[in-house]
Amino acid sequence: MQTKILSTSEYDISLAGKMIADGGLVAFPTETVYGLGANALDDEAVKSIYTAKGRPSDNPLIVHVSDKADIAPLVKEITPKAQALIDKFFPAPLTIILPKSEKIGKVVSGGLDTVAVRMPENETARRLIKASGCPVAAPSANTSGLPSPTKAKYVIDDMSGKIDAIIDGGDCAFGVESTVITLATETPTILRPGAVTREMIEAVIGRVDVARAVLEGMKNDEVAASPGMKYKHYAPKAKVVIVDANKKAYEDFVNARQDAFALCFEEDNITIPKVTFGRENDDLSQARELFDALRQLDEMGAKKVYARIPNATGVGMAVYNRLIRAAAFNIIDLKKPFFIGLTGQSGAGKGYVGKHLSALGFNVLDCDKFVKKIYDNNAELLQKLAAEFGNDILKGNTLDRKRLAEIAFSSKENTDKLNKIVHPEVIALCEKEAKPLAVLDAPQLFEAGAQSKCYKVISVVAPYDIRLKRIMERDKITKEQADARLNAQLDEEYYINHSDFVIYNNAEDVDIQIKKIMEEIL
Ligand code: TXA
Ligand code: MG
Repeated sequence: MQTKILSTSEYDISLAGKMIADGGLVAFPTETVYGLGANALDDEAVKSIYTAKGRPSDNPLIVHVSDKADIAPLVKEITPKAQALIDKFFPAPLTIILPKSEKIGKVVSGGLDTVAVRMPENETARRLIKASGCPVAAPSANTSGLPSPTKAKYVIDDMSGKIDAIIDGGDCAFGVESTVITLATETPTILRPGAVTREMIEAVIGRVDVARAVLEGMKNDEVAASPGMKYKHYAPKAKVVIVDANKKAYEDFVNARQDAFALCFEEDNITIPKVTFGRENDDLSQARELFDALRQLDEMGAKKVYARIPNATGVGMAVYNRLIRAAAFNIIDLKKPFFIGLTGQSGAGKGYVGKHLSALGFNVLDCDKFVKKIYDNNAELLQKLAAEFGNDILKGNTLDRKRLAEIAFSSKENTDKLNKIVHPEVIALCEKEAKPLAVLDAPQLFEAGAQSKCYKVISVVAPYDIRLKRIMERDKITKEQADARLNAQLDEEYYINHSDFVIYNNAEDVDIQIKKIMEEIL
């Protein structure tokens, strides 16, 4: 099929209206995103929308009208709350769901007994609906699963050859789809946030709920309040990960990821390839540019994208709702502890893994080295140690390390006392030195309770015999000494049960294991 590109002229609009009246498909601009329209009362025409988009048939369409008076025949009843919303907002980027009338067929309603109605604000959209002489069923004019189109060129990319015509009405003013609210439930519930915010609606009809899936996604066994919730959405080809961080932490994090793209705000200082979506404190600009940015990333061939997190209040809720779906709910939270913990028993080969991660460009913090540093110029710490172990661990203003070791390692009780003082100092120093997603190479990670500071924990394990041999050779100790040391440590099962990832360091594919784990973490 040859897809005609039409203008917003009187002639073209009446031509497009006739196409719809005759059962054809026409894409048209709205204030939110481009829609793909057909006669809502013509089952065959509506079916062809599902085919052109590749849309699952149980996902209902919104029925668009050009006049408030055209709503009544489509629904069972216009309830007082519905009337209040229509009076206050229509025409608007707002869709209202009500029990449907007999006029609405099964195809357009996806088999539900409700119907979604909207009167768009965009004048071209209303002129087209009027010219077609019928209510117009219209989903967003993208291939199912891709970001909704906010410019005619993206409709051409997705729909060329599949539909009768595309009306080019320039860029969409708002940029994300309408707010969808159902009034068919006891408490009105927002199923999809948009330009008309919860606060604006509550000011008119009182309490409104927001469906849980709006911000968190669907649980496996959950029934979708809106069929659209359960399908993949807005996803570019690239894998998108949202980074929950302030400006500086986000910049540091992404600027260290040379192989990725940033999806950031205009004012962010980014040194890797980037696409912006608006300004930090301007949710309207974010909404306007988000889908365009996602499509641009695909055009640039991005494979991995780190997105700056938008503020999810007001219109920002709509931006966050779309972005989190584009990211398939992947978030790295840099506000939480952001170390990757690396631990394991003596001789398991943790050192090798640490070196390998260093070579891959990670900031690896070797806690054993930091233990030696914490005593320098730290009078307060030395005082604490002296109070615990006696003044002869001091040589003037400095530490007598040998003496401290003799006393502290003379009994398990003393070792525990020393650890209690030393571990927090080491962790504090690591935190000072750490770049985002630093690797905390800590033999005593669990003993120090430092796993709570870690985003993920990797343990390295190896068979007992191998560990024994390694530490005897490395530390020039006897079998008895090596046995004693290994037996004093946590057992392998503990490491396995308390870690997110385990590296088995008796295999030949250690490098591959490391690579896989890091890819998964990032
Ligand atoms: O801004 C918009 O609303 C755009 C423009 C073109 O008007 N349209 C749009 O349509 O975004 P679509 O089909 O891409 O999204 C409609 C959403 C879907 O998630 C669908 O599941 C939900 O609304 N929906 C439609 N009818 C429903 C109903 N009766 N009950 C529950 N959810 C419904
Ligand atoms: Mg859509």
